[in-house]
Amino acid sequence: MHARAVAATTTALLGTAALLLPASDVRAVETGEPPTVIAHRGASAYAPENTLAAIDKAARLGIRWVENDVQRTRDGRLVVIHDDNLRRTTDVEEVFPDRAPWKVKDFTAAEIARLDAGSWFGPSYAGARVPTLAQYMRRVEHNHQKLLLEIKNPELYPGIEQQTLKVLANEGWLDRSHLSQRLVVQSFSVDTVRTVHELKPGVRTGLLGTPNVADLPAYARFTDQINPSHSTISAGYVAAVHAFTGAHGRPLAVSTWTVNDARTARKVAGYGVDGIITNTPDVVRDAVQGP
Ligand code: G3P
Ligand code: CA
Repeated sequence: MHARAVAATTTALLGTAALLLPASDVRAVETGEPPTVIAHRGASAYAPENTLAAIDKAARLGIRWVENDVQRTRDGRLVVIHDDNLRRTTDVEEVFPDRAPWKVKDFTAAEIARLDAGSWFGPSYAGARVPTLAQYMRRVEHNHQKLLLEIKNPELYPGIEQQTLKVLANEGWLDRSHLSQRLVVQSFSVDTVRTVHELKPGVRTGLLGTPNVADLPAYARFTDQINPSHSTISAGYVAAVHAFTGAHGRPLAVSTWTVNDARTARKVAGYGVDGIITNTPDVVRDAVQGP
């Protein structure tokens, strides 16, 4: 859909809500820019999620933003994997048959490095590994990409916020240009988002979920984005979020997930979202950016 059509649709859908807001708070209407496309766990429809192959695939598709999930091993290393156990996305049951329930937190980094994180997806990805966060950051940097980093299951990993920031610092991701252009740290945990902000106020943050609008003034003190499931939002909700100023002085932004088809992508673009998190970034880009 062309930007003007998106804007027109947005205006129609917003209705009264738009009239109650300053125009500058409804950015899709004002700027006509399509939402940013963010490759969810990398281009995870086409390559095994959260592997280097998945972010390389996103890069080949021309997608600048990738999303990932960060957890911690038994010996305190940060790794990139979604589930709190290794079963779905690795061959851990074959390699370590006696280690049920195969939790990430119960394996060392060296043990996890032995696992095949690609064969489950397809034979051409056999041998793909669960990357450490440091390995992952280096590949994102190499690819000139940007990162929406999710701290996953933080209740399982005390102190993971500080540790994540330390890895980012070691990898050169907390300098001014990365902070302003290339990094957002998000979590479903309010405490984690607040902690990241308090530890490193320059980091842009996102709160996953669909909080009540009444809670947004409190959250806006330490976050920049509210990132809800697409199935939970409306034009009115997006407009209500945009009406608040986030931790870095700009309107709270909205990146919604996980949108994998063109129709839904156009629908949420019409709601005025700022970003769309997707397993099929090429499909979404074509849908919202038009020919
Ligand atoms: O980035 C949004 C999305 O990743 C949140 O859900 O379960 O895919 O991590 P999940
Ligand atoms: Ca995630």
